[in-house]
Amino acid sequence: MTQDELKKAVGWSALKFVEPNTIIGVGTGSTASHFIDALATIKHNIVGAVSSSEASTRKLKQLGIPVFDCNDVDTLGIYVDGADEINPNLQMIKGGGAALTREKIIAAMAKTFICIVDQTKMVNTLGHFPLPIEVIPMARAYVARQLIQLGGNPVYRQNVITDNGNVIIDVHNLVITNPIELENTINSIAGVVTVGLFANRCADIALVGMSSGVKQVTAGDSYTIKSE
Ligand code: 5RP
Repeated sequence: MTQDELKKAVGWSALKFVEPNTIIGVGTGSTASHFIDALATIKHNIVGAVSSSEASTRKLKQLGIPVFDCNDVDTLGIYVDGADEINPNLQMIKGGGAALTREKIIAAMAKTFICIVDQTKMVNTLGHFPLPIEVIPMARAYVARQLIQLGGNPVYRQNVITDNGNVIIDVHNLVITNPIELENTINSIAGVVTVGLFANRCADIALVGMSSGVKQVTAGDSYTIKSE
């Protein structure tokens, strides 16, 4: 199976977690896009969605799914989104699509975060994928200097402005042995809006698209990763 076929399989498999007459948290990226296609097939059974990006909002609306402002939603049962990397504790690197801040807000609101990934995203130690950080534009150089002190190699993502009007720095060469500590440390740098480490609020369930089928992993399960 191709990577996109695996993404499609997990995107559609997340449909079984959707409760009727509820609002669904919807993520961003190619895997989340498959989930939106699946959600559209049951759109008359749900109230609507909250969305983590302008791109997902556009697609949801095009398919006739009402999109709500987060400020108008009191409770959110599930949030379904992809990831760039996920470890056995279901901690993730996200933000490859630059939507990390809105993703983190919706993840925080949701009772259950369901991460949908293909098997290439599973790693034992986070950090092979460059860690995205959303930064206030005037703080870009200052934040980059602080990240070098943490041992990383920050690279400014050219020609990308986030939905919130900020820039992205991708940090290479980090070996993230303590994701919670690093998330807290980077979040405390002045000028950082959000770091794409989802460690304090990790996923509750991961659906992993493998050539043998979709595997469901719950936080606390132990699983082994054969290759990285
Ligand atoms: C966007 C994200 C995405 O979830 C992540 O980049 C994975 O994307 P894809 O499903 O296209 O592989 O965090 O900011």
